[in-house]
Amino acid sequence: MRWYFELEACLQLLLDRPDSALDPEVRALALVGLFQLAHGATPEHAAVAETVEATRALGRPRAAGLVNALLRRFQRERGAIIDAAHRVAQAEHAHPVWLLDALAREWPQDWRMMVTAGNSEPPMWLRVNRRRGSRDEYRARLAAAGMAADPCDFAPEALRLEQPVGVGELPGFGDGAVSVQDVAAQLAPYFLAARAGMRVLDACAAPGGKACHILELEPGLAELVALDVDPARTLRIADNLRRLGLSATIASGDVTQPAAWWDGRAFERILLDVPCSGTGVIRRHPDIKLLRRPGDIAGLGDEQLGMLRAAFALLAPGGRLVYASCSVLAAENAAVTRAFLSAEPAALDVGESARLLLPGVAPARGADPGFALPSGAADADGFYYACLEKRA
Ligand SMILES: C[S@@+](CC[C@H](N)C(=O)[O-])C[C@H]1O[C@@H](n2cnc3c(N)ncnc32)[C@H](O)[C@@H]1O
Repeated sequence: MRWYFELEACLQLLLDRPDSALDPEVRALALVGLFQLAHGATPEHAAVAETVEATRALGRPRAAGLVNALLRRFQRERGAIIDAAHRVAQAEHAHPVWLLDALAREWPQDWRMMVTAGNSEPPMWLRVNRRRGSRDEYRARLAAAGMAADPCDFAPEALRLEQPVGVGELPGFGDGAVSVQDVAAQLAPYFLAARAGMRVLDACAAPGGKACHILELEPGLAELVALDVDPARTLRIADNLRRLGLSATIASGDVTQPAAWWDGRAFERILLDVPCSGTGVIRRHPDIKLLRRPGDIAGLGDEQLGMLRAAFALLAPGGRLVYASCSVLAAENAAVTRAFLSAEPAALDVGESARLLLPGVAPARGADPGFALPSGAADADGFYYACLEKRA
């Protein structure tokens, strides 16, 4: 998926007929073979032989010759074929053209870095559970286990592992010493600034990464309600709370339908981590490049605005709502918060004061509300945060 648009262009050049005429399974196999030759670590002779063999195993013996011929031609003419494929931006950058256009328009300084990030294997960021010890102590535990990790200077719990490992290899993972979470997502509690005695709503909580982080940093909350519309995903919140030794009130429900789950008591803090296009986390989910369509974005923006309006109604006067998304597109971020602020006289953008807590984080461009983090900067995912308060 990560290199699909490049490999597909190479396949078109290798075939003397449009590749859509290929049987879908044979086409997929040919792309897998090309991936192994262009980007994989498999020895080339094995990649060719196994792909040809797989064509036969799929019951397509007549296509085996074609697959063999096109993979061998790619081996021979690789440089020229890749150069020719790269004449089209979508193939050169291995991202769909609609997304490239949007990134270049919205992020003229950063889009190349963001595309490079979207084509890379993601780093493994850890979040140290400060209730169990300091980041330095956990880093020493990692070092004793032969794992090197670097701290992040603007996210106080974050360590970036030099080499990703299975979670089972992380010292103390099962006992809640540490969680796996991208550094950009680790900023949420700092923008939220929940204090002892407050009631907090995490309105889109599953699987519970940010809810658990909020609880790790503030043991004295009156209550944290972890809400999610997807009952299967709410089970994962319970798993994470259990592993970390934390507790919260888990609710299954829709933030836009509070009558079904809300007791009517306003929240002093609300985190609204909306469902989004995921365009900031493409390196973790490269299938987003294929599955998302340009027409999805406006609909997501409408849904996000509806959720923001509904969540804000549950906020106490003087309280703060943090809007978060892992999209890098303004239509899901600043356009949503701007539309909300212009129609809601009780809402204030308090981003400037929130930023004092995180001097390393730049605000969104121009007069846009919130903080837009481009993917790849500081080796973080792309993210957006806006801090909105309700006038007292
Ligand atoms: C970006 S994920 C949340 C990630 C989570 N905050 C974390 O840090 O682990 C968005 C979540 O919103 C939930 N969701 C979508 N629409 C919702 C709605 N109308 N009300 C409540 N939750 C919703 C989805 O089921 C999904 O779990």
